[in-house]
Amino acid sequence: MRVNTYISSPPMQSLRSSQNFKSSPVVLSRDLYLAHKNTQQPILRIGPNSLSFCDFRAVRDIYGHGTPCTKDLKESVTAGSHCNLFDVVDKPDHARKRKLLSAAFAIKNLERWEYKVVFTIERLFKAFDSLSTAPLKGQIPDQADLTVDFCNWINLWTIEAINFIALSDKMNVLDKGIDEVVAERRDGTLYKARYRYSLEQMVSWSSTFCWEYDLFPWVEWLVGVIPSKWKSQQRNGRAFGDIVYRQASERLRKYQAGEKHDDFFQSLMEDKSGNPNNLEWGEIVAEVAGIINAGSDTTAMALTQTLSLLIQHPQHLDTLRNEVDSAMGQDEMVAAYDKVKDLPFLRACVDEGLRLMPPTAAGLPRRTPPQGAQIMGEWIAGDTSVNMSIYACHRDESYFPDPEIFNPERWINPEARRRLESAFIPFSAGARSCLGRNITYLEQIMLLASLVHRYEFALASPDWQLPRMEAFNMVCGSMPIKIWKREIAQS
Ligand code: HEM
Repeated sequence: MRVNTYISSPPMQSLRSSQNFKSSPVVLSRDLYLAHKNTQQPILRIGPNSLSFCDFRAVRDIYGHGTPCTKDLKESVTAGSHCNLFDVVDKPDHARKRKLLSAAFAIKNLERWEYKVVFTIERLFKAFDSLSTAPLKGQIPDQADLTVDFCNWINLWTIEAINFIALSDKMNVLDKGIDEVVAERRDGTLYKARYRYSLEQMVSWSSTFCWEYDLFPWVEWLVGVIPSKWKSQQRNGRAFGDIVYRQASERLRKYQAGEKHDDFFQSLMEDKSGNPNNLEWGEIVAEVAGIINAGSDTTAMALTQTLSLLIQHPQHLDTLRNEVDSAMGQDEMVAAYDKVKDLPFLRACVDEGLRLMPPTAAGLPRRTPPQGAQIMGEWIAGDTSVNMSIYACHRDESYFPDPEIFNPERWINPEARRRLESAFIPFSAGARSCLGRNITYLEQIMLLASLVHRYEFALASPDWQLPRMEAFNMVCGSMPIKIWKREIAQS
């Protein structure tokens, strides 16, 4: 098979080597997608042993349930002392972990999570009410009225929501308006650290340097000794491990004190009949890390992106509002899930946001087995790193005509939706697809419905663009907005 080599263009280089947030949308995934498109090559070599695919057929072969590929070694070299569901490579070990956690993540648990989501939305809206301004006059808001950094607040909200759902903990970040929490070192000493900040610092340096897996342990060591911005990022990022340790330890203390809570931690400790699972403490901490990491920033990115797209497309925001208003009472602050979960336009907005700007946009690396594998009818040698980007898949014009347009209408017809869903993979596909999908839909649907029902919004200017940095996920920068209460909410 002939594979063209993709030499990275300047935007890709600049992302790897320098500044964090760029005002242009998606960089790395878009760059690679355009390289495939411009060369009309469905397979490109992006490293000495790494291939990128850009054809929907590759999804089934690389990620589908019957795939012979495993997660790539990237996961093993970046994992801690114990693997979690997300980074475990060994298939039987993954199946064991997935079975253990599936019960906790099952859709029948929605009722158990809903009141936690309601409680957290009420606290977010308390903050938004206090930051509300007078209704907008004219088109462009005064700078002084841009009182809400939506991306910051929604990250605080998802931090609170996932820690409440998973660990029954109220973090107080929504009350303070900042992601400052307590971190605990292994020696038991405590210090204050920033949740979202440390998570972003961690992914920023590691996704920059984790390309050559054999060399990564050396590179990691070098980054830690040579004074540079990467060294500070590595140090700052370590705090996330201590935050996780604090969260897990506090919850363990409650468990040992005999407190019973209906949350994920309980499912890690005991099965449904109350028999102990006897997991090692290191494995429990690793699973907690996976959940409170994967469960916070992804949903925040999705909501930030979807709201920015809705504000930029007022006709869709109006349609959404009309639909939500018809399902919610005038004086209702938080949408009951049952009332809004089947609203077609609401779901269409959530899905169209996830399609156009998937929070995990890049190709998730997988490894072919030693004997090689067939991908898209081509034989690919053993131990090759292969991926197909989610960003590219969502731009397949045979499924999504005018793929760059934010058009929720494309999801409305049920038959059309069924067809689109087969090319819609924001949560990846197959046995390693996202386990938190039910939770994020619950959160996004309830939050978005409640938000548009209660508030109006304006961005700083018509040509404002959401700053982004691609570091495994599509990390969003600030989104300053003016908000004001709708008349419906005033009453
Ligand atoms: C919009 C929100 C979300 C998106 C776009 C998203 C996306 C993804 C993707 C693409 C993967 C596959 C990663 C890979 O193969 O390397 C994944 C896996 C995973 N996600 Fe999510 N996720 C979201 C929300 C959540 C939430 C809320 C949770 C937990 C509460 C969660 C927990 C997980 C876990 C545990 C895995 C690993 C599954 C496995 O390997 O078996 N995710 N997610």
